[in-house]
Amino acid sequence: MTNPIQFELTEEKPGSCQQVLVPVWQDEERDLPWIPKNTKAGFTGTPKETIQVFLPDEGIKVFFLGLGDQGEQVSLHSVFTDFVKKNRQQLSEDLLVDLRHMESSIVYQCTLGISLGEYTVGIHKTKTQTNILQKVRILVAGNTAEVQSKMQEAEHTASTVKEVCTLVDAPANVKTPQYLAHWSQHSAQRYGYQVEILDHVRLEEEGLFALLSVGRGSENHPLLIKAIYRGDADSKSYQLGLVGKGVTFDTGGISIKKSTNMHYMKSDMAGAAAVMGAVELLARLQVPINVVAIIPVAENSVDANSVRPGDVISSYSGKTIEVIDTDAEGRLILADALSYIQSNFQPGTLIDLATLTGSCVAALGYEVAGLFSQDQVLADTISAAGVATGELVWRLPLRKSYGDWMNSDIADIRNLSIKPVAGAITAAKFLEYFVEEGQSWAHLDIAGTAFGDTAFAQSKSATGYGVRLLLDVARTLITGKNK
Ligand code: BES
Ligand code: MN
Ligand code: MN
Repeated sequence: MTNPIQFELTEEKPGSCQQVLVPVWQDEERDLPWIPKNTKAGFTGTPKETIQVFLPDEGIKVFFLGLGDQGEQVSLHSVFTDFVKKNRQQLSEDLLVDLRHMESSIVYQCTLGISLGEYTVGIHKTKTQTNILQKVRILVAGNTAEVQSKMQEAEHTASTVKEVCTLVDAPANVKTPQYLAHWSQHSAQRYGYQVEILDHVRLEEEGLFALLSVGRGSENHPLLIKAIYRGDADSKSYQLGLVGKGVTFDTGGISIKKSTNMHYMKSDMAGAAAVMGAVELLARLQVPINVVAIIPVAENSVDANSVRPGDVISSYSGKTIEVIDTDAEGRLILADALSYIQSNFQPGTLIDLATLTGSCVAALGYEVAGLFSQDQVLADTISAAGVATGELVWRLPLRKSYGDWMNSDIADIRNLSIKPVAGAITAAKFLEYFVEEGQSWAHLDIAGTAFGDTAFAQSKSATGYGVRLLLDVARTLITGKNK
């Protein structure tokens, strides 16, 4: 990694600058700064629209960047990310961004977006591209402590989100379960929180048989990451418990997937990565909350030792599971993680994130994650966080009848519904079977949102979905805004 971009706030136009970025709302009436009055050169400010004007007298290159309609809910930061990505070759070391006429909240979006624009998927190329842009000065009307702190928050957030994207985009031969464990240990050391790893021997002793069964076909043994961040010394309990699906590669197991697009299954640990990132970010921002994260990690591979369709396995909860389809592995490792976190930590609120079903992608596509919860307040909190961060969710029903489709003749439950419909819901119902009565819980199916079309790659790549959403949810939980 090259050095990260340095951000700085300033209230005065610097004496020298060769490159200026001026974001503009669509159909904004004001005269554009930096260029002669009334010159708009056909620029209307639609989202991501860019024009360049060169001012020969001053020797300044001015970029105007359209932000779209002011009232519209868009992920504003992505406009800045897109700008940096598209103009990567043209941008020189220093950039001045003129935000004097904008609300101060734009400073956050601008910093986040520009910083994310540095992200690159080409780290395994032998000829790596380095970032030329090194310093961004943001021109604001009032350089208050609050604006300063929002800018710093954006820098921390972008840094963690980029780390998460790097993990999700990493090939499965690199990001083994061990690799994810090391990442967490390193992050914990750096940002001041606790991480403990349960290796497969411990998992056996503790009885996490559903997690173990998924990892049986791989030489890269399964493990469990336990991460604890305590930001609230006044409370002994955990306000928030997080669980993330960490399948480092999903071949489908013996119920093997077809090869088209199987390579995308390296992203099947995006739920784990989002949770690991969320804990890191809560620690970096010193949010006053106690959080415990349980991350089950396994590679779902094909081997003589692999679990077979029809096998009956046990689980941490003691409940038995008939494995009908070894490709429905996410729910197995999550079942153990959900039981484990509830028995050992009793979190006030429990949220899991998982790239769980293709069915969720079929239902909601790539921009909105599936939300499943019986808790109205929690569902509202997560939905509102989705709108606030642009990481959108949509709630789907958890009616009892869907659960009946997983009754097994020979075990307590089967891991596949008898009906080939509503796959995202039946998967959620399976998880619910391992959630105790009275536990406030929500499941997010991020199969569509975690990995998709981005400014960073021609084919699909990581989006970092979930980190900012979870930060917002955590803050709402402690301020009780939504109660
Ligand atoms: N990891 C997949 C789900 C997935 C699909 C994520 C597409 C991202 C994009 C999951 O483990 C899986 O294989 N699900 C099956 C479930 C089925 C066997 C009940 C699916 O969705 O087809
Ligand atoms: Mn699968
Ligand atoms: Mn999977």
